[in-house]
Amino acid sequence: MNARFSPSGPLHGRVTPPADKSLSHRAALLAAMCAEPVRITNYLDAEDTRSTLRAVQALGALVQRRPGSLVVRGPGLRAPAAVAGVIDVGNAGTLMRLLPGWLAGQAGSAWTLDGDASIRRRPVDRVAEPLALMGAAIEARGGRFAPFTVRGAPLHGIEYRLPVASAQVKSCVLLAGLLADGETTVVEPQPSRDHTERLLARAAARVRRAGDRVTVGSQDELELSDVHVPADPSSAAFHVAAALLVPGSRIVVEGMAANWTRTGFLRIAQRMGAAIAGPLEAPASELVACEPVCAELDVAFGPLEGTVVEADEVPLAIDELPLVALLGCFAAGETVVRGAGELRVKESDRIATVVAGLRGLGAQIDALADGFAVRGSGGLRGGVLHAHGDHRLAMLGAVAGLASREGVKVVGMEAAAVSYPGFAGDLARLT
Ligand code: S3P
Repeated sequence: MNARFSPSGPLHGRVTPPADKSLSHRAALLAAMCAEPVRITNYLDAEDTRSTLRAVQALGALVQRRPGSLVVRGPGLRAPAAVAGVIDVGNAGTLMRLLPGWLAGQAGSAWTLDGDASIRRRPVDRVAEPLALMGAAIEARGGRFAPFTVRGAPLHGIEYRLPVASAQVKSCVLLAGLLADGETTVVEPQPSRDHTERLLARAAARVRRAGDRVTVGSQDELELSDVHVPADPSSAAFHVAAALLVPGSRIVVEGMAANWTRTGFLRIAQRMGAAIAGPLEAPASELVACEPVCAELDVAFGPLEGTVVEADEVPLAIDELPLVALLGCFAAGETVVRGAGELRVKESDRIATVVAGLRGLGAQIDALADGFAVRGSGGLRGGVLHAHGDHRLAMLGAVAGLASREGVKVVGMEAAAVSYPGFAGDLARLT
């Protein structure tokens, strides 16, 4: 599906983005790992998180849909069901990396996971390696890719230093740690989103943080009371960027998750001079079980200046880095993102697709091995941007279109449904 986004007048009004994708995946998985039913309110209804519900159902969870909520009755931590055939993760990298952590600890059982063409290009050796060190076996195509089979085994705790700052890998090892003998510690090179730790703490798991180390102990069962999923800061970021770039705009984003590990993009934009006001959480020195929410985030158009984003900030803004490139096109001076080689293994190679996409709209942007460099040119002409099946590329093209001089045709706009099915409608309501 192609969609055209024409140059827009100012954005005004209030928007509540859809529920957080990362938290929704984790809520469904952890609920399925509980023995008692768990009610989840505001679960994200999008393609990725539907894949997670289908996966937990295949593994024996009962999922009851009620207006505004879901009730998940899990098979429990130690009893996921056998599945005839494969578990289809669709496009969901988070599901593909987290689920093996649970399954790896089920001695004597095996499951095969597969997904779409994009998921088959994304590495799973990053979770296979620590799970193998714990005693499980993952047999992956070419040793690295889906489809792959997880063979559960009795696990033992390890101390694992993450080779890349990945919340998905951290989460996978922590979930396996619940089923392992002894303690399992993950050492993070840089802080990454901490939703799994927070939710595990709520689920009465013995989890603790000390500096860059997160440790979990073995559990017989998990118990979770109701989980509410706030709005997704990564989805909000597209509206924020549109308001920052379209002259005269002023919007309010409501109900957004404001966890410090997810709001790096807002801090980068503020450093570029953006007028963004709202209570955002400070970095947590110890593990807290709740997810902070920002009731109202106030965003207004204004001039921007280039900035440099280094490796330590990358995991805190990983999914919003394409938007940093877009802001850079409109900012004075140069905007550089470095230490972001992980972008190459997202839903698309986001260094290649962002650089080609924005160049096609008139940007002066160069790819680096581990990021990109943009010279602000006062705006964008417009043109055609290919989403390459990547939801965040599709939404990037839409925002670029609103702020451009001639508009943007996005080829493959349907990809937005992976995380934000109502995106085009919400954006249109603001313009
Ligand atoms: C996610 C973690 C990030 C992010 C992805 C969601 C998560 O991936 O890019 O969209 O929910 O844990 P990595 O942890 O692999 O960087």
